[in-house]
Amino acid sequence: MDEALIMYSLGALAAAVALPRLKTRLELSKAKHPSLSGHSRMARRIAAQLPFYEYDDARIFCCDGAPAEIAAQRRAAFMRIAALYRERYPESAAMTARAAAGISDMQFTAAYRVPFQFSRFVREHIKGGSFLQSSAGLMVTDLDGNSFYDLTGSYGVNVFGYDFYKSCMEEGAARVRELGPVLGNYHPAVEFNARRLREISGLDEVSFHMSGTEAVMQAVRLARYHTRRSHLVRFCGAYHGWWGDVQPGVGNPVPARETYTLKDMDSDSLRVLRRRRDIACVLVNPLQALHPNGSAPGDSSLVDSGRRAHFDREAYTSWLKELREVCTARGIVLIFDEVFVGFRLAPGGAQEYFGVKADMVTYGKTLGGGLPVGVVCGRADLMKRFRDDRPADICFARGTFNSHPYVMGAMQVFLERLETPAVKAMYANLDAHWNGRAERLNLRLREAGLPVQVANLSSIWTVFYTQPSRYNWMLQYYLRAEGLALSWVGTGRLIFSLNYTDADFAVVCDRFVAAAQAMARDGWWWTDGHQTNKSIKRGILRELISHRF
Ligand SMILES: Cc1ncc(COP(=O)(O)O)c(C=O)c1O
Repeated sequence: MDEALIMYSLGALAAAVALPRLKTRLELSKAKHPSLSGHSRMARRIAAQLPFYEYDDARIFCCDGAPAEIAAQRRAAFMRIAALYRERYPESAAMTARAAAGISDMQFTAAYRVPFQFSRFVREHIKGGSFLQSSAGLMVTDLDGNSFYDLTGSYGVNVFGYDFYKSCMEEGAARVRELGPVLGNYHPAVEFNARRLREISGLDEVSFHMSGTEAVMQAVRLARYHTRRSHLVRFCGAYHGWWGDVQPGVGNPVPARETYTLKDMDSDSLRVLRRRRDIACVLVNPLQALHPNGSAPGDSSLVDSGRRAHFDREAYTSWLKELREVCTARGIVLIFDEVFVGFRLAPGGAQEYFGVKADMVTYGKTLGGGLPVGVVCGRADLMKRFRDDRPADICFARGTFNSHPYVMGAMQVFLERLETPAVKAMYANLDAHWNGRAERLNLRLREAGLPVQVANLSSIWTVFYTQPSRYNWMLQYYLRAEGLALSWVGTGRLIFSLNYTDADFAVVCDRFVAAAQAMARDGWWWTDGHQTNKSIKRGILRELISHRF
């Protein structure tokens, strides 16, 4: 009898311990986005099993079941574009061919411009080249003297136009020339920059790093140090640089064990933040407001027309407010990663734009005035790297090139120029301005009966497609042929500098519509009327399975 009682009590005790754990575990599962990017470990496992295959000559222009005459039309158009590229970009292409064999970055970006089934064929025929000679105004010019409207935004660095950064770099260099490359001590520009950044961020302290990735690493490391908790939370799809802990899924050879990837804009995630005791910080990349839970939209994943984007400022503001409340209540450090959007949405960045304060903010890209940089701004209690009562318990962070005089010089000029009437004027009615432009382009596209639309978060745009198709990725080549320069992610991300005038934009609009019209004329958007995004995905899955087994 006694024994039974003991067993019963032990069982009850075990259940009392295990059940809450099970509940927290289930809550965590529920807070994961159902997509593969919401399940990093599974995504890595599946990615490792995906077999390579490619379409042969017979399939490449009709993998959507298009009839022979449409396939022939597409083939002729493709070869015409290939010939046009050969004729227009010979020097740029030749230098790319010479350099690429020794530069893995070039090989990577070239391979991942279009879905892998088409990639080798496209690379063999269409040679655009990765080199440029100069930039001026809104234009960039290649080695063959061709000028393009720049829609790459240089990964988001270019907020005010390339001439602006050239002058920041030149004037900054003149200011620091006497000190030159001396490191370890500081140029006086550092004092000014730190003071202005504290004012802009509304936070107490600043640290300087060499890249956005490093700034994020440092912010997270400090959050872990001060909270004595292990885990960081990032939201599904969000990019925070290429450090392993913020890239738990595909792309990282080892799993990130102390990262939770949760659903963006979802109360299940708030429940996890309220409940768990191991969360040090929450990382927010406000760019995700354009496509919550979606990864950066590159054309290499444009296998159908499933790409969607829509920015709802009110909804995202409420979400940030909720996050703020939970983080405050739970002592979790709220980090805004403004490496991309800082200084683009408003002079005070996302904090000002959404009206929500973070505990730490990371900046980078444009803030260097054209030179490489990463910055962390934070509350004094979070930025401190040592403990007064434990001399050996430190949070180490150095970096040979942090506070490099030339970067600090260019940054000082950048921060000074933010205060000038000319730059302030660029922020006036920013959203109305860019939303209006996006609407104008969308109207033109709709009126022309084209299955293409854009969505935008201010001056950051993405192209999406309104009719199921396997060939949307071709649009990037038509756009380039019209003199519009895109980055290697193609139509996934168009980034405008704020110095585009209405007249410049009208030209871009004309060229964009002309490119899409040419693509439609060439038969790429042919459809049998039955094809859906689902049926396309199903077809690709069948192909994958048949090649795997
Ligand atoms: C939000 C965000 N965080 C961090 C980074 C990484 O910055 P970097 O490329 O300077 O290392 C990026 C780069 O695109 C970014 O967009």
